[in-house]
Amino acid sequence: MKKYTVAVLVGSLRKESYNKKVAKSLIELAPENVSLEIIELGNLPLYNEDLESNTPETWTQFRKKIESSDAVLFVTPEYNRSTTAIIKNALDVASRPWGKNVWNNKPGAVISVSMSAMGGFGANHHIRQSATFLNIPMMQQPEAYIGSVQTLYNDEGLLINKESEKFLKNFIEAFGKWIERISA
Ligand code: FNR
Repeated sequence: MKKYTVAVLVGSLRKESYNKKVAKSLIELAPENVSLEIIELGNLPLYNEDLESNTPETWTQFRKKIESSDAVLFVTPEYNRSTTAIIKNALDVASRPWGKNVWNNKPGAVISVSMSAMGGFGANHHIRQSATFLNIPMMQQPEAYIGSVQTLYNDEGLLINKESEKFLKNFIEAFGKWIERISA
């Protein structure tokens, strides 16, 4: 059985981030054919085309990591009805230099996580907008908008809501099948 590697991009740098907690739950719930790894995004300098002549090492390593991964999973908070600068910067960094878009043809999925009831719909769909241009074949269903996330975890960071656990398990299993289908 082929094991697919998935680069997990979490759009929050906060230590107690709920998005990180959801990413960790997905790692635990992933099927056997999928291996998820959270990739550091906080060390990527803000995209500036002038830096391409002396490329920051962290950009190079990040581009290589995306290129060598079989798939990408975005786990995003919502900031002001959009995704965070952290994720947008990562999208921009790995889309360049021109002609070397390493997102190209990587099967992708997005899950938005919010403390509000709306579940980060705006953030989720702003990622989909860039993903269309970057040619990331995005899983369409199931969609994943996780709202009121603060009620789903206990103080130790454990997922305590069984329905949410079932939902996340189904989501990550569906993504495994999506990766297999797109990679075939
Ligand atoms: C927010 N938050 C937020 N929530 C939401 O549902 N829609 C929004 O538009 C915003 N906007 C927003 C802007 C800024 C600058 C901050 C700091 C926060 C709340 C946000 O979703 C909440 O803080 C999450 O807990 C952030 O995710 P992590 O850090 O817990 O993963």
